[in-house]
Amino acid sequence: MSVGNERRRLAPILRPPATAEEEELFAALDLSRLPRHVAVIMDGNGRWAKQRGYAARIFGHRAGTDAVRAATRTAAELRLTALTLYAFSKENWSRPQSEVNALMDLLDEYLVKELPEMRENDIRLVASGDPGDLRDKTRRKLEETIAATAGHGGLVVNLAISYGARAEITHAARRAMEMARSGELAPEELTPEVFGQMLHHPELGDPDLLVRTSGELRVSNFLLWQIAYSEFVVMDVLWPDFRRADFYRALLEFQRRDRRFGGVGPA
Ligand code: FPP
Repeated sequence: MSVGNERRRLAPILRPPATAEEEELFAALDLSRLPRHVAVIMDGNGRWAKQRGYAARIFGHRAGTDAVRAATRTAAELRLTALTLYAFSKENWSRPQSEVNALMDLLDEYLVKELPEMRENDIRLVASGDPGDLRDKTRRKLEETIAATAGHGGLVVNLAISYGARAEITHAARRAMEMARSGELAPEELTPEVFGQMLHHPELGDPDLLVRTSGELRVSNFLLWQIAYSEFVVMDVLWPDFRRADFYRALLEFQRRDRRFGGVGPA
């Protein structure tokens, strides 16, 4: 992947005090071969809470917002193009109402509290999913933060909220059928490239790397179209414990992979 090499020669935009472990992992990274787009299934919040004796999973979700901040900072420092975070799935609406409400409250808080940092670090927020499913207050805050960061040119943080890949693909298929019915698009003109443009935020490109925390080997209806050739890294760390060093470890694993996209690679 070529984009970003120019920018990556610059110093990282944030330089927090690093631990010896972080320094060592960072030094091992090849900054010219970083993924452009990283997607994350942030899993393990409930188990994190349970391990600490909390009956309510929301303690894990709350702690998970610190990991969201750490992941976003790391992606911005490394000048990645996009970070897609699976914050709330279509299926998550079936959780107990108290947990759903608490997650929406956390989201509201996040959208307000993180805005100064998004401004400081030129981060642009976008969302994938069905905002129409959200309560008015949360949808408004989401729209406000998206609008407030729209002019930023750095990392794009794509929050997947009320997101489900099957719903996304079905919606795009419906759109293609409507275009065919109105004569805008002939059926034979529908190629994977054209169809891909009908999905959420095609401008971000497909994720090069998909990370799932907590050791589960599932895709959970996430970006089913876009991850066709993503490298999948599953880590045992529970999401609330995910920090810069874990991000570096995922990137190092990515850099050990031989990406051939179904071809045979260089002779
Ligand atoms: C899965 O863990 C995680 C979620 C359903 C929600 C993710 C939400 C956050 C990380 C915090 C809020 C995010 C933002 C952007 C403010 P789980 O509850 O399924 O964990 P378990 O598998 O251990 O039970």
